[in-house]
Amino acid sequence: MKITIINGPNLNLLGSRETDIYGSQNFDSYLESLRALYPKIEIEYFQSNIEGEIINYIHESKDCDGIILNAAAYTHTSVGIADAVKSINCKIIEVHISNTYSREEFRHKSFLSPVVDGIIIGFGLDSYRLGVESLI
Ligand code: DQA
Repeated sequence: MKITIINGPNLNLLGSRETDIYGSQNFDSYLESLRALYPKIEIEYFQSNIEGEIINYIHESKDCDGIILNAAAYTHTSVGIADAVKSINCKIIEVHISNTYSREEFRHKSFLSPVVDGIIIGFGLDSYRLGVESLI
């Protein structure tokens, strides 16, 4: 089984960015523990701060078994990423580290939620593991 995790803008700064909201663990070390938890699953990882690169990567991931997508701020703005999600058949789970519904109102709108297969929000970095579990 091959799962792709796609992280959007500013998530490269996990561990040092707004640690009161996102925690103090960086994503590389979290990913290492996630891969160790699922040795039989190939977990690919891509992060970009650029909307078009995320769209390209979604297109390139069309043959994997599942995508875990945290489009970060683009969740709330990007028709382009929503259209990319609609353009492939692979199962896609939208995840968020923080509970976006308990934050500013502009984070309550997701262009992705209506077009993904499932949504996992607010469990910290564990949201990604729950995403893997849901795809399994
Ligand atoms: C986020 C929530 C978004 O609103 C925010 O812009 C992010 C991270 C999360 O994982 O909690 O960058 O997607």
